Amino acid sequence: MFKAHEIKPGIWWVGALEWNERRIHGFTMPNGSTNNAYLIMDEHVTLVDTCSHEHCAQLIGRISDVVDPARIEYIISNHSEKDHAGSLREVLALAPQAKVVTSTKGEAILRTYLGKEPELIPVKTGDGLSIGARTLTFVATPMVHWPDNMVTYSPADKVLFSNDAFGQFWATSERFDDEVDEGALFAAAKKYFANIVMPFAKQTAKAVAAVRELELDLIAPSHGLIWRSKIAQILDTYEQWCRLEPANSAVVAFATMYGSTRRMADAITEAFMAAGISVRQHDLAVSDISDIMTEVMDAKYVAVGSPAHNMTVLPEAGAFLTYLKGLAPKGRRGIAFGSFGWSDAAQKEIANTMEQAGFQMEGEPFTVAWNDSPEDAQRLFEMCKRDVPNCT
Ligand code: FEO
Repeated sequence: MFKAHEIKPGIWWVGALEWNERRIHGFTMPNGSTNNAYLIMDEHVTLVDTCSHEHCAQLIGRISDVVDPARIEYIISNHSEKDHAGSLREVLALAPQAKVVTSTKGEAILRTYLGKEPELIPVKTGDGLSIGARTLTFVATPMVHWPDNMVTYSPADKVLFSNDAFGQFWATSERFDDEVDEGALFAAAKKYFANIVMPFAKQTAKAVAAVRELELDLIAPSHGLIWRSKIAQILDTYEQWCRLEPANSAVVAFATMYGSTRRMADAITEAFMAAGISVRQHDLAVSDISDIMTEVMDAKYVAVGSPAHNMTVLPEAGAFLTYLKGLAPKGRRGIAFGSFGWSDAAQKEIANTMEQAGFQMEGEPFTVAWNDSPEDAQRLFEMCKRDVPNCT
């Protein structure tokens, strides 16, 4: 039932279409996900990456469409995260003689996962592996986005198996970049970059520079569409994204209990607009944090608000702050705000967390007791106009 797709003579896409997956570590995937794996039919049959355990049947089915899985002699594991290594055990059960080729960091991780049995071959940048007519080469790309990451290159095919880099979470029947809408493709790549790659932009810039040295017909990532017609475009775009240069824009994200902090968000939003700064506002009870993060990637200013609840922030604000702290966008200015009845603990916590995330805070938190009258909102608006767009 499951069919393989030949992407280059002798190289087959054998990945898993995860049409109905919607979430992965805080990232919302409205259009599902594709976990790519590739089968290279050479003298020594080689599989590049696997897929998540849940979708192993697709992987095995597509491999079997080309060759008996028992003939696999090498499995390249570019990255040990479970969305790529989650079916290694199943593939090794069918091909027990197969050797797993991975980075030195990957070797340590996979040994704990796979146990003593399979032979692991650690490789480092510049190493080669002859699989017949082809010699595959490897480049370590540590922290893009795990310490074990590497990419695999086939010079004979001019194909780079880039693993997470250049990926997008998107389940499609199409396999190539020029078969889908370009705007949707780059939007998916941007959301992926903002939510997965952004904390490691410096390391990613180095990886992009290394990729530029290669002759490329295809960049075959481990998620989403394969790049063939827009290789220069995605490399240029990644270079630009890696610089993390903010636009003159702002994001205002808030949680509210009785509407007071919402009115503060409105006043701050209007103040940005009055200053000529493009702004987006999100109620954290209804907006998705991974969508917000895509906007944070572009924003110079990020304002986060919450009233106090049990001497901390509201749960939806807490989830966003945790996510923000992990992704830690560099070079942004932060604003903490919120109304309160008897404690400004929440606003202090927001400011502290944003500072820990690397934000340069714009003064003290904006706090208003109750903020229940139109005069309060107007007063806050005037204060924001004066204080928030300290914009340079
Ligand atoms: Fe797609 Fe880091 O796994």
